[in-house]
Amino acid sequence: MKPIIFTFPEYENITNLLITKLGFEKGDVEFGSYPGGESHVRILSDVKDKEVYLVCSMDKINSVIMGLIFFAETVREFGAKKVHLIAPYLGYMRQDKRFNEGEAITSNIFAKMLSQYINSLITIDPHLHRHKSLDEIYRIPSKVLHAADPVADWIKNNINNSLLVGPDEESGQWVSDIATRAGAPFIVLSKIRRGDRDVEVSVPEVNKYRDHTPVLVDDIISTARTMIETVKHLNKAGLKKTVCIGIHAAFVDNAYQDLQDSVVEKIVTCNTIPHKSNEIDISGILSDAVKGQPHQELTK
Ligand code: R5P
Repeated sequence: MKPIIFTFPEYENITNLLITKLGFEKGDVEFGSYPGGESHVRILSDVKDKEVYLVCSMDKINSVIMGLIFFAETVREFGAKKVHLIAPYLGYMRQDKRFNEGEAITSNIFAKMLSQYINSLITIDPHLHRHKSLDEIYRIPSKVLHAADPVADWIKNNINNSLLVGPDEESGQWVSDIATRAGAPFIVLSKIRRGDRDVEVSVPEVNKYRDHTPVLVDDIISTARTMIETVKHLNKAGLKKTVCIGIHAAFVDNAYQDLQDSVVEKIVTCNTIPHKSNEIDISGILSDAVKGQPHQELTK
């Protein structure tokens, strides 16, 4: 029996790309809410004896988490074999320690909770920093994919003579990987974050890269403070205008406009979170993973 794939309305585009590539059945579901704000879910497709996939990125996780849980429990009640979550962007990964006394380590609590409701998880470049693997916090099989190939391809096809720039030590892992694939040099900066919107960045010697186009790469652009501070320094150092690439376009409040105003060449993101800057399609790596990783394997 064909697997069936459902989505929240926000992630319709990436889901349609996946359906075209995978040939799965498209599921029909209504996600809504009652006037008091409580979530309402209605499954309109037959799920009996089917492997069920749900696409849900987690840029607005607090507003969809109840719908996600109600969905997973209900399709199981209706006879679904297993429920697999495709979360192109996995939320609640950045609070991976108690930065201040008394704080909740939300990455751990969220993972423990989600593990109760779904059978497996596929995601792209989650913020693995202090946690080295999702297995440290998730109790279900998970598959982590990397956007390095599509990002490197985009750079090769669109930028001449690029210099890849990682804004902080945490970004070093994927920036060096993407640089190798794109055949470009790279530098990694140092960052001190003093608060949500208070970031300081230091830039190494960049004189020899004056003829290069700096390509700043980070996993998430949220408030964009990290990128804005970095761009300021790169501009001050007299480099060409920067191309900013974020894997996950979280962009809170005016972050996108603020980053544009910091005088950049272009802002480009992957379509893990829908945004007008999406230029790098990751549906291919997602569908390959779903194809190459049959549900049986994901849930053994
Ligand atoms: C943090 O370590 C991440 O890799 C990003 O650098 C960070 O989350 C970006 O956040 P913001 O856009 O708020 O500076």
